[in-house]
Amino acid sequence: MKKYPGKKINTAVFISGRGSNLKSLYNFSKKKISPIKIILVFSNNKNAAGLKYAKEKNLHSIYLSDKKIKILEIKLLKILNKKKIKLICLAGYMKILSYNFIKKFKGKIINIHPSLLPKYKGLNTHNRVLQNNEPYTGCTVHFVNNKLDSGKIILQKKIRVLRNDSIKKLSKRVLIEEHKIYPKAIIKLLS
Ligand code: GRF
Repeated sequence: MKKYPGKKINTAVFISGRGSNLKSLYNFSKKKISPIKIILVFSNNKNAAGLKYAKEKNLHSIYLSDKKIKILEIKLLKILNKKKIKLICLAGYMKILSYNFIKKFKGKIINIHPSLLPKYKGLNTHNRVLQNNEPYTGCTVHFVNNKLDSGKIILQKKIRVLRNDSIKKLSKRVLIEEHKIYPKAIIKLLS
């Protein structure tokens, strides 16, 4: 496997829950070919399973919460700047980032979403896909802008919806693809 030729990019991963995409990004970051180094894991939920995983892997992890988004983001920005973060990967991060925050990291925040954007922005994607008898669904890695799930698409993977699919079955199959395309999208973006 080819080695990434430059200095690895200081990356933060933002999570709110399970952290399976964090796990896939962490495993990827350890490969020679990876252009990223995970410097920080941030969670807005102190019970996020992903935080436990980050600790197990000795990743610097922080939990911050504040009802006032402005205050939370000021604290967060300080830490991101101190750690010289150049890329933010949202991985199941369930809070909306403010316009001001996004502006400060313009073009440097990416997200993974479990649908073929621009279709099915927002929550409960698999349920809506099944309700509408869609023949295909998938997942998308995209830039984050100030409109929900609407930034420029970096990479998508399309999969077939099967006749006997349930939300559980479908989300499981999409998640397998998510774990593959997030690293691929990062390579596409940074290499
Ligand atoms: C994933 O399906 C992701 O696409 C969506 O939230 C879920 C997070 O899962 N944004 P995990 O925490 O990475 O396991």
